[in-house]
Amino acid sequence: NAPTSQNITAVETRITTDARWAANGHKSGVLWLTGLSGAGKSTLALELEQALFRKGWQVYVLDGDNIRFGLSADLGFAPEDREENIRRVGEVAALFARAGILVITAFISPYRSDRDRARAVAPDLFHEVYVNAGLAVCEERDPKGLYKKARRGEIAEFTGISAPYEAPEAPEVEVETGSLSLAQSVEQLLGYVEANFATK
Ligand code: PPS
Repeated sequence: NAPTSQNITAVETRITTDARWAANGHKSGVLWLTGLSGAGKSTLALELEQALFRKGWQVYVLDGDNIRFGLSADLGFAPEDREENIRRVGEVAALFARAGILVITAFISPYRSDRDRARAVAPDLFHEVYVNAGLAVCEERDPKGLYKKARRGEIAEFTGISAPYEAPEAPEVEVETGSLSLAQSVEQLLGYVEANFATK
């Protein structure tokens, strides 16, 4: 394991999380969206971000495709690369949440153990959201043509085709994006956010 915690002392912030929440008018946390490629994670995350921003909320989306251009540019899609990708995102998301922001993450995050580790970084702030559309629906949608490529064998280790997706067993929320409209899915999540993060 990495040589952490050697000659290192934690620094305590003088601004409590409660003080940040009071200033922002809402609580912060991590809404961790997980689901197959094409299930609607990014679309849902961006719609929710916009709706909350318009209401004056401090909110920010971390998205798989974007993070892989920067923070995780050195990583591919082998299990250990996904593990490291999700480890990094879990740490970054927790930092955002501690800073008072409601962070919405949109990563396939196919392995239960990786998601559990992300939760463990900030268990008090972590909410797992299962963006659930079946493989058949996602493959039918195929917005980026990736399933077709994967079926032709042009993408190795593609989630749902040649790599596993371990569905959440007890997510805080499950959004059935295979049968709900986008507007209905956003409404469901907005309701969840209002119920769990609003303070006024
Ligand atoms: S992971 O598993 O959480 O680390 O993946 P993530 O960072 O969310 O990246 C998923 C996006 O990368 C594209 N892509 C692939 N996905 C799955 N498997 C393979 N082999 C792969 N290769 C590229 C794909 O566009 C995913 O985006 P979404 O938005 O999920 O469709």
